[in-house]
Parts: sequence; structure tokens; C-alpha cells
Amino acid sequence: MDKIAVLDFGGQYAHLIANRVRRLNVFSEIFEGDTPAEKLREFKGIILSGGPQSVYDEDSLKCDPGILELGVPLLGICYGHQALAYVQGAKVEPADFREYGLAEMKITKAKGLFDGLNPTEIVWMSHGDSVKELPPGYEVIGESPGENAAIANFEKNFYGVQFHLEVTHTAAGMKMLNNFLNLCNVKREWKIDDFIAAEMELVRKKVGKKKVFMMVSGGVDSTVAFALLEKALGPDRVFGLFVDTGFLRLNERTEVEEALKSLGFNNLHVRDASKRYFEALQDRYDPEAKRKIIGDLFVKAQAEIVEELKLNPEEWLLGQGTIYPDTIETGGTKYAAKIKTHHNRVEQIEKLMKEGKVIEPLAQLYKDEVREVGMKLGLPEKLVWRHPFPGPGLAVRCLCIQEAVPVEHQSTLEKNINEEVAKFGLQGKVLPIQSVGVQGDFRTYRHPLVLMGASDFKTLGKLATKLINQFQEINRVIWLQHPNKIESVKVQNSYLTRERIKLLQQADAKVNEFMEKHSLSRQIWQFPTVLIPVSINRENGEAIVLRPVCSEEAMTANFYEMDLKLLKNLTEEIMTVPGITAVFYDVTNKPPGTIEWE
Ligand code: XMP
Repeated sequence: MDKIAVLDFGGQYAHLIANRVRRLNVFSEIFEGDTPAEKLREFKGIILSGGPQSVYDEDSLKCDPGILELGVPLLGICYGHQALAYVQGAKVEPADFREYGLAEMKITKAKGLFDGLNPTEIVWMSHGDSVKELPPGYEVIGESPGENAAIANFEKNFYGVQFHLEVTHTAAGMKMLNNFLNLCNVKREWKIDDFIAAEMELVRKKVGKKKVFMMVSGGVDSTVAFALLEKALGPDRVFGLFVDTGFLRLNERTEVEEALKSLGFNNLHVRDASKRYFEALQDRYDPEAKRKIIGDLFVKAQAEIVEELKLNPEEWLLGQGTIYPDTIETGGTKYAAKIKTHHNRVEQIEKLMKEGKVIEPLAQLYKDEVREVGMKLGLPEKLVWRHPFPGPGLAVRCLCIQEAVPVEHQSTLEKNINEEVAKFGLQGKVLPIQSVGVQGDFRTYRHPLVLMGASDFKTLGKLATKLINQFQEINRVIWLQHPNKIESVKVQNSYLTRERIKLLQQADAKVNEFMEKHSLSRQIWQFPTVLIPVSINRENGEAIVLRPVCSEEAMTANFYEMDLKLLKNLTEEIMTVPGITAVFYDVTNKPPGTIEWE
């Protein structure tokens, strides 16, 4: 079988590249960045991924110069581009012009990698270093404001691009990758059916005579994983456990139970553990602490059921619907920074994984592929296309706080921000709370900036990118919908309580009904509704942030640009929920904001 090798230099990139290569029906295999060339002889081409390091750091990962002699096309992306240039003797140094976000690239040679492209293309950059001079035999094929955005040695079919062609922000990225695969002359043989068949075989091998105890949530990933395991092992050997954490959506427990039962999953247990969850979380506000407690309690619920039903733990493996982004965001690969701990990647689970007691048939896939597997396995479209919902549920959409977090140098910061935004008829205010974001592959925990005034999404989107790059104190921008102006902001200590979750459930239900009514659920990839402990212009109360995003695989996302009339209606709907004092709309892309606030 023809294959492409992807060299992994850390972060999320190598797997995303592999996902994109699969979409073009080509097999690929991922290797550590410094894998000896000898091991890569059978591959038809090599792609070097991005990564968070600097090639001029002594201990950074370097590629084996031997890959230059294999006689196959090479493509270096971001760090991979720098690593490739470096082993060919070019200088790589901190960039004079660092680029984060979208950049315009002028194509100067529309052939090879850039065959058939437009004279200018929008590309997505995220780099602090640059290739300062061309390696011998190379020429520039694309120019952006930074140095050497894209270079090629046409004779050898070696290419280097400073931007990330694998992310959806780079509109022509798939076209470029397709061109590269053409240059590699690789056969297009990969099919999702082959993946399913191979994975079922692997499952049978790994499980042997044992059985699988599967944690299900009713979400896409765990249901597809459950179906695949059942198909591979037969219904008697797969046991499902659905834990009601208390952080589900309104009526979700009944809906999930009914949906799974109607699919014929009869081996399903439901456990209401909400009391325990609320107790364990009653005084917690730190997002990571919350995530850890929630993940640990999942494992505990599983262990208890094993004991109650007198199942022999030696005969059971724990099944999970983990997909690739869950692993990478938890910092689960060698060079990836921890962004947030996913519930299926807490320490206890990692311990079980080391003991070989966990099975995750979808762990290499991204959401788009999981959906494809689901459809192939015959699951109903409605279920396969459910919006992703995080394992910790509404708990990570309900911001908790011990006390207001003062914004450093607030008046100077707001003065500087207001100088910028006044040009667009807007006003800015920084809130004394924090949320999680991701910048340059690292986690941030910073303040949201509120923009007030009439505007449009193009202006707001551009401003959000610019302001977050410019002001270190903020990592999100939200647009005030109601009221018109902020006169006062009150923040009270707030934790996870049944009352707050009930409030959030009501607002969230309004959002979901609204999405259904206006048939928005395919255009919007995921629509978190976030409760923040901020009372606007009133003594008491809370506020809601709407966070609809468009994405393909959750690693990057754009905020959704909702029709303004619809947004007005939705805001009015939400303001009918008692206790809500304000509605905001999140206009931050990912990066720099994550999709969820915690
Ligand atoms: P972020 O917020 O990191 O989220 O941009 C990326 C995607 O992952 C989902 N998410 C989770 N899914 N367990 C899950 O199964 C978790 O602990 C978890 N945390 C975030 C999130 O909803 C989004 O789709």
C-alpha cells in the first residue's frame, strides 16, 4: 500500500495533517520528528509538521538530513519548514516580523505545490522564527509580510511553507496538499470502510476473551465507539454506563436513554451521581480543578458498578469514545502543552491506560471522520450530527469564581483599548473574570474584553484578532447585546450549584430550541451557552455568553456570524429567563480563544 510519512515535531499538527491526507484518500503514518531516514525508505513522500520549538535551540528536535537523499518529495510546514531549511544549511532566527493569524500571500510561482492557485491566497500563520535565507537550489514561490513564506526546490520537489496549510483558515490548503500528493505519485487507496474493518480486527485482538465496560454520554463519539465495539464483539460483551453528573442539558438524560435503547443498546446502565458531583465541586472555581474532579468521579462510578454487579475487574476493559483532539488538548503527546484536561484523560485513566486496560477505537480520528464511521455503521443521522458536548457538560460552561479578579492597570488598559475601538464607534470594558484560551500552542487564562455599540461581524472579528494580539491581558472579545451599555459590573463568589445549573439549563434550552426553529444546527458546528457570574447594571444576577462556532475538527474554530435580526430575537428570548442581567456574543476565533470557556 502506498503511504506518506508525517514527521511529528509536537503540538496538534501531525495528526491534523494525517487527517487531511486521509481526506484525500491517502494512507499516512506518523513518526517522531527525528526518525532516521532509513526507516522512511518505503514512503512516497514526507511531510514535516509544525511544532512549538525553535530549531536554533540546542535540544530541539531536528530531522535526519538523510531524508534529503531518499529521492522523494518533501514538504516542511512551519517548524518543519524551518527544520528542513536548517539541515540544508540555511539560517533560521527570530523573525523580524512575527505573524499570528491570517496573512495575505502573493503567489510568485503558481506551479508544483501552488499549481492552479489564485494570484493571492489567504493563509494562516503562527510563528516567531523565520527562515532568513534560502537553502541552495531554492527559490521563493510565495510572499507574505514576513520572510520567505513559501519556498521550493523544483528540481528535487522539496517545498517549505511558513504558514499552516492543514488548518481550514488556509482556504486553499487542501488544494496545496492535493498538489503535493500528486507530486508524490501516491495511490489514493485509503477508505473509511478499511479503517472500520481494521479497527474491529484490532478491537477483537486487544479485548481477547474479556469484555468492555463502555462509558457513554449520548454524544457522537461515545455512541459511535459503542456501536463499533458492539459490532466487533457482539452485544453480550459490551456493557454501557451512562452517568448523570447533574451537568446535563434540560431533559437530556431521558432523551439519551431513549435514543440508545431505540438503537437496540439494551445493555445500558444509568447512574444518577449528581449529588456526589455537586458535593465534590461545591467550593471549586479553578477550571482545571473542576475538570479533574469530574473525570475522577467518572472512574469512581465505573468502579462502583463493577463492585455492585460483582464483575471481575480482571475480565473487563474500560471503553471510551476519546477522539484525537481530546488527547492533544490534555497535553497527551510528547511536545504538546496542556490546554485543558479532558474528562477522559485524567490521571486515573492514564494509569489504567498504562496497564493496558483502556480501549478507545476512535482515538486517532477527528470529529468529521467519527461522523463518517457513525453513518457507515448505520446510526441515525440525527444522532451522528448531534453537536459535540463536552464530557464535563454544563460544568465547564458555568464559570465559577471566588472573588473578582482585578484587571492589572485597568484604567490605562481600558484607555488604550478605547483609543483603538473609538475609531469604530465602539466602547470597551475589561471584565474582572477569566477564561481559558490558546495562543501559539500554549494555554492562556485571561480576561474577556466587552465591546459595546452598534457594529458588524467583519469589523468585530478583525478588531478581536488585533486587540488580543496587542493586549496581553485579554484572550477573548465579547459583544454586548443587552443592555445597550454597562453602567456597573458586580461579581459575587459563585460555585457550581443546582440553582446555577438550572439557570444555565433554561438559557441553553432556549438556544437549542432557537437553533432547531431556524434550522441553524448544520451551519453552526457547536453552540455553547455560558453562564458568567457577572451582574450588569443590577445588584444581583448573572449573564449569558453565546458562543456559536464553525469548525471541522475543533482544533481551530471561527465564531459564527449570526444574522443580526435573529440574534436580536434570541437575545430577547434569553432575557426572559429570570436572573439574567445581560447577554453577550463571543466574537473570538480559536485560537486565541478556546471553544469552551473553561
Ligand atoms: P476547546 O474548548 O478546547 O474544545 O476549544 C474543543 C472541543 O472539545 C470539547 N471538549 C471536551 N470534550 N471532554 C470531551 O469529551 C472534555 O473534557 C472536553 N472539554 C472540551 C469541546 O466541547 C469542543 O468541542
